[in-house]
Amino acid sequence: IKEIKQGLPLLGKKVLITAGPTYEAIDPVRFIGNHSSGKMGFALANEMVALGADVTLITGPTAEKTTAELQRIDVISAADMLTACMDKFPQSDITIMSAAVADYTPTEVATQKIKKKDSEFSIHLKKTTDILASLGNIKRDNQFLVGFALETEQEEMYAKEKLQKKNLDLIVLNSLNDKGAGFKTDTNKITLFNSAFDKTSFEIKSKTEVAKDICAEILKLILK
Ligand code: CTP
Ligand code: CA
Repeated sequence: IKEIKQGLPLLGKKVLITAGPTYEAIDPVRFIGNHSSGKMGFALANEMVALGADVTLITGPTAEKTTAELQRIDVISAADMLTACMDKFPQSDITIMSAAVADYTPTEVATQKIKKKDSEFSIHLKKTTDILASLGNIKRDNQFLVGFALETEQEEMYAKEKLQKKNLDLIVLNSLNDKGAGFKTDTNKITLFNSAFDKTSFEIKSKTEVAKDICAEILKLILK
């Protein structure tokens, strides 16, 4: 395998990728989740393996299967994902945070199944830790950090704001406005912004092709 991998651009590089949704438990049988399929993160992981990288994939609940040679860590909640990311990040050269992490989680998790009543019911939520921002805070100069931005309005403005606030080297703007892009689909329409705010736009493509575009841009920036 070593020989086959010779000449690959990311040989010897450690890449950390997160994928999928997180599930935030309400009680033993219910959770708050989102429609993320994990497809984008898995496509990125496969592409990074193909480029010769040593890949760790931290994933929330997903139906996706891992085929490539990589280390897979399964997590459920945003808090679990934070712990796993904090553990792996210091050793990582390139980190891509493509998971759709819950922004809020129930303040308390009921130990027994909550029974229905005649009255209305509400759940109190607290904010989760922003994993990407936490990684951006502790990032060293020799580490490359990539985030995603999922927007439905004023997308470029919000994406650039996230790029700057979270101390990223690259942000992938995911446009949900376009048909066939985003959650649940096999295609995505992305725009990239590097830390100098240079913009690169792409056509709507399969997530496998999108993963290739993102990895090519990362290679361009780190080998510069
Ligand atoms: N993210 C994270 N931890 C969170 C929330 C988000 O690491 N608790 C990461 C996502 O993985 C993504 C980036 O932050 O790479 C942007 O996520 P997004 O939901 O688009 O932005 P938010 O900063 O959460 O802001 P908002 O949802 O209000 O747009
Ligand atoms: Ca969010």
